[in-house]
Amino acid sequence: MAEEEDGFAPALGDMSAAEFRRFGHEVIDWISDYFERSEELPVLSQIEPGDLKDQLPASPPLKGEPMAQIIADVDRLIVPALTHWSHPSFFAYFATSTSAPGIFGELLSAAFDNKAMLWRTSPASTELEEVTLDWLRQMMGLDKGYTGIIYDTASVSSMHAIAAAREGVELRIREEGMSGRTDLPLLRVYVSEQAHSSIEKCVIALGLGQRSLCKVPTDAEFRMDVAELKRAIEEDKAKGHVPFCIVATVGTTSTSSIDPVPDMIPIGEAHAMWLHVDAAYAGSAAVVPELRNILAGCDRADSVAVNPHKWLFTPFDLSVLYCRHMDLLRRAFALVPEYLKTPEQEKVRSGSDYGIQLGRRFRALKLWMIIRYFGHEGLAARIREHCRLAKLFASWVEGSPEWELMAPVPLGLVCFRACPQTDSAEETREKRLDVLNEAIMHGVNATGKALLSHTRLNDKLTLRLSIGNIRTTEKQVRQVWELLNEELKKLR
Ligand SMILES: Cc1ncc(COP(=O)(O)O)c(C=O)c1O
Repeated sequence: MAEEEDGFAPALGDMSAAEFRRFGHEVIDWISDYFERSEELPVLSQIEPGDLKDQLPASPPLKGEPMAQIIADVDRLIVPALTHWSHPSFFAYFATSTSAPGIFGELLSAAFDNKAMLWRTSPASTELEEVTLDWLRQMMGLDKGYTGIIYDTASVSSMHAIAAAREGVELRIREEGMSGRTDLPLLRVYVSEQAHSSIEKCVIALGLGQRSLCKVPTDAEFRMDVAELKRAIEEDKAKGHVPFCIVATVGTTSTSSIDPVPDMIPIGEAHAMWLHVDAAYAGSAAVVPELRNILAGCDRADSVAVNPHKWLFTPFDLSVLYCRHMDLLRRAFALVPEYLKTPEQEKVRSGSDYGIQLGRRFRALKLWMIIRYFGHEGLAARIREHCRLAKLFASWVEGSPEWELMAPVPLGLVCFRACPQTDSAEETREKRLDVLNEAIMHGVNATGKALLSHTRLNDKLTLRLSIGNIRTTEKQVRQVWELLNEELKKLR
């Protein structure tokens, strides 16, 4: 008993209720303090590779250790090894954030520890997922014909969509596979050159091979060139290949460009192809009524992936696949051994029928709590503000002769670079600008006060500022603009 009071594990069973309550309060206090002081922490972890491993014992403790000491070690060892995605000046990749109701949802879901493989193993998870995803569908203005299902990430959502598309081709791939078959034509998937690398990983994982992927060129605004798409499909058909899936991106990773889905739809329809929309990043913005047109055309697509863990304040992970053909998804994946058969199986949905996983986390709970706590209007207001801040930052870039925008700014991402005047010839100038911009980015990131990332556009190193963190305000956006200009002054 004395041991328990010190926060040691009892000889058997879990931590006592009293200890759980005590440390539970301490952990919530710790998290509150973490959010309050997060701006004082360096956004990018300052440790060197191996630093954390060197401080951790190589073998596990034989006896339990006091909980207070474990929590203290989170402070001492783990926090310095974190890159703080919750920092309000995190502008790299796609800025994302957790939120208080989302954290509560995760906490409760960990307590319930439900495995939503069948309806009966977690009726709450199964039914809440259906209802919450239908709410989100309505908030995004998507058609009623879509049914949603939760996976962990967009990579996995897209993989399941392409697997369902492949099932629709009726080549008995589920039964006979793809290897050792001489009767299979080359199956083709079309994406733009700007599509996320996850789609290429999907075709690798599904055994289609990288050879099956056709990367279609983009226009001056980084959107798929529809004439090129049409041409590529027709050429492939003439060669005897089977074009079966087009993946459009609404909100590409490099620039947040939006493929012209309305123009792609008739092409997909003409060739009876599946049109999947990767709206992992931008899909959340459709909850803002005046931004809903980013999903124009998507009502006629076959599937849409959106990541609430990107821009809907949902702790990682939670990705949603909206699909019009749940029958094909089910046909691709359902396999029910005897021990999983239940009397109600014909009447209910079993999540495990629609994917690789058997056990599924109760992810819907956090999204349900987030939607209820902020409401549709509250979520829209936050995303609208991020877009306003991105436009504000873009206006400073445009207003300065020393900086330039590198892509349109439809949402919360700004692509830009420093371009001070030099006397160099064009080719040397471009090389110098690459070096300069990379140095500016590393300089800003090294201050620990903000974190930016980069991409290459038209072979030019481009800085990316992504605004999507729930804690980001105009103050941090102004501060990063100052930091960028200070770095430019130092390096010019
Ligand atoms: C457009 C797009 N699709 C897919 C992904 C992959 O997302 P996830 O990490 O959820 O697999 C990303 C990640 O940034 C993305 O930007």
